[in-house]
Amino acid sequence: MKIEDLLRQLTLQEKIDMIHGCGFFRTKAVERLGIPGVVTSDGPMGVRMQFPDDSWIPVGETDDYVTYSPSNSALAATWNPVLAYKSGKELGEEARGRGKDVILAPGINIKRDPLCGRNFEYFSEDPYLVETLAVPFIKGVQENDVAACVKHFAVNNQETDRMAVDTYVDERTLREIYLPAFRAAVKDAGSYSIMNAYNKFRGHFCSESKELLDNILRDEWNYDGAVISDWGSTHSTKGVAESSMDMEMSVTTDFDDYYLANPLLEAVQKGEVDEECVNAKVRNILRMMFRLKMLGSEAPTRKTGAYDTEEHRQQAYETAKEAIILLKNEKVLPLTEERLALQPVKNAQGEIISARKHKIAVIGHNASHNHASGGGSAEIKALYEISPLLGLKKALGGNVEITYAQGYYIPGKKNVNEVNWQEASLERRVMGQEDPDSEEQKALRKEIEENREKLLREACEIAKDADTVIFVGGLNHDYDTEGRDRADMKLPYGQDELVEALLDINTDTVVIIHAGSPVEMPWRDRVKALIWCYFSGMETGTALADVLLGRVNPSGKLPETFPARYEDTVTYKNGEFGKEGRVEYKEGIFVGYRYYEKENVKPAFPFGYGLSYTDFRIDAPELIKVTPFADNEVLCDDELSYGKSCDNKDNACVVLSVQVKNTGAVAGAEVVQCYVSDLECSAERPVKELKAYEKVFLEPGESRRLSLSLPRRAFAFYDAECRGFVTEHGEFEIIMGNSSADEALHTRVTL
Ligand code: BGC
Repeated sequence: MKIEDLLRQLTLQEKIDMIHGCGFFRTKAVERLGIPGVVTSDGPMGVRMQFPDDSWIPVGETDDYVTYSPSNSALAATWNPVLAYKSGKELGEEARGRGKDVILAPGINIKRDPLCGRNFEYFSEDPYLVETLAVPFIKGVQENDVAACVKHFAVNNQETDRMAVDTYVDERTLREIYLPAFRAAVKDAGSYSIMNAYNKFRGHFCSESKELLDNILRDEWNYDGAVISDWGSTHSTKGVAESSMDMEMSVTTDFDDYYLANPLLEAVQKGEVDEECVNAKVRNILRMMFRLKMLGSEAPTRKTGAYDTEEHRQQAYETAKEAIILLKNEKVLPLTEERLALQPVKNAQGEIISARKHKIAVIGHNASHNHASGGGSAEIKALYEISPLLGLKKALGGNVEITYAQGYYIPGKKNVNEVNWQEASLERRVMGQEDPDSEEQKALRKEIEENREKLLREACEIAKDADTVIFVGGLNHDYDTEGRDRADMKLPYGQDELVEALLDINTDTVVIIHAGSPVEMPWRDRVKALIWCYFSGMETGTALADVLLGRVNPSGKLPETFPARYEDTVTYKNGEFGKEGRVEYKEGIFVGYRYYEKENVKPAFPFGYGLSYTDFRIDAPELIKVTPFADNEVLCDDELSYGKSCDNKDNACVVLSVQVKNTGAVAGAEVVQCYVSDLECSAERPVKELKAYEKVFLEPGESRRLSLSLPRRAFAFYDAECRGFVTEHGEFEIIMGNSSADEALHTRVTL
């Protein structure tokens, strides 16, 4: 009613003002009626620096330094929904503290291919993992009277030709892989806003896709929140006016000429577009504003937020330490205090005359490089960022000698700031893949080559002279970036050669790969200690040092499969990734581990994998409840929400419990993963699919019985003919373990 009252009082011009940007990140207020403008900001790892309304050169004051939180890929590596909730809460509080109404996060697209430039912003290759982390994250954000803007809806899985690529995905795959997290974001988390993607979906831009926005989002999911366009994803006036997209935002300064600005005003005045189309959009925006307490009697009680608090920094640390993944460890880690302690130096008489410091050589550009300010719209001005080198030095103090060498050469950026990438983001040319044969690229390769030798030599020298060698390499936001996919999965800048050289010198060299997406690690059989660290926020270095020194026991698990070689991926094989124009998702539902398991391709490290400094035993599975379901019956709407059905054990079809014991000597956390395998089905099913998981913290010797509930949805598949999820009677295997490759525990159920 309140919405209708306001709507009646608004003039057409005022309504038009409310549905398009009048600055890069805001819409106009209607002061006459006390309606404020909507202020948005990126992004997923913290609230982005302040921009003027009409320039992509940041304002440049000192008041927009913020908490730099771990990326979604890091958050996903924690496999911890409680941390997801707390991270969302922290981000929402920062956003409100900076005076924002909408935070353009989280990004929840599926990692379809390891080369996608924006994978670091996304959670996982598995829809269940994405959904179970995105829902608490969004709830956390919105507790602060700030809207999450979940993005990018939908089927937005590559950066090449990102403004126009036309994606074709079959209905079952769409429903089983690409939509569940969006559905959950909208229906279970109640995201107040959602961002449509740049790409086309089945021939139509997502900003005006009837299938996505009208049929699925509005009609099927009953979404009444605001749909915001990605910046510059709108391509028509009438089409978009008549679509379910509500607010046009872009990167250019011709605000009055946006499709939903003067052109729409004129179209309505001429009778070409019904004013009711405008009203529908304004209604959705007003509804969001009421929910945010920007309007209405509750407005004086709207939360005020806070940024840069001690608590937020602590939160960033908590997530970072659980995000670190130990991939290999043959008795090298942790670096114990004993090993690093001062060693007495004795004279000929055996008297202690002094002490010798343990020498650590830290090698690699990523050891002392900061990442917060890169990557595209996820860039932020971090209040601070603890690099791995700083983290280690501050943890160890003066009695250990740390030497550092850059190890590999990063060419300097040319023409920085000449054109802001976002300003140019609508132009294909700038955002496309670099041509390897261009003169510029050739010169770059030469420059790298010339410097490589020298840095490699320096690194080897300090490695030879050290007791312990730690390499910190990986990628940076020249690779993990919006607007561009990687050309291959190799470590750049000659790092493979450097790692091999360091292993020749010291077989115990600890290798830390700091990156946002998988890389090939051809030396992985040789290395004894291997740590994976996604972009993990301002406390990355503190967390890494704590893990290296055993003050924190690593508990991260891979939220995506790391293939051994890019050639092993299904998208490489079917050639349907990173193309311009039309991309067909020919692999169907077989994304990530669903593909590797089907074809028996052994990855370098499987989905869900990660080691600890202690050992766990998972055993004694017990079936607590089995309730058979109806054969061939379509699931009702409520049954599609894992959240709703799992919270309530009465709704579960299968409840089982399993014993987890910490059998080692230090406290630690294990993630018990539960996969379901359909043994007989009329449709082709993946070998198994993740359907439940739980992270459990245990003291040495402690054991706990976990109970896991599987709702009917966990056994269902999408049947395109029935246009719904169905379950079929038959036998299912429930597999529990600590990674997708751990299949020791099987339980059979007949449903
Ligand atoms: C990105 C969005 C981002 C927007 C605003 C676009 O380039 O795709 O994720 O929120 O810019 O900066």
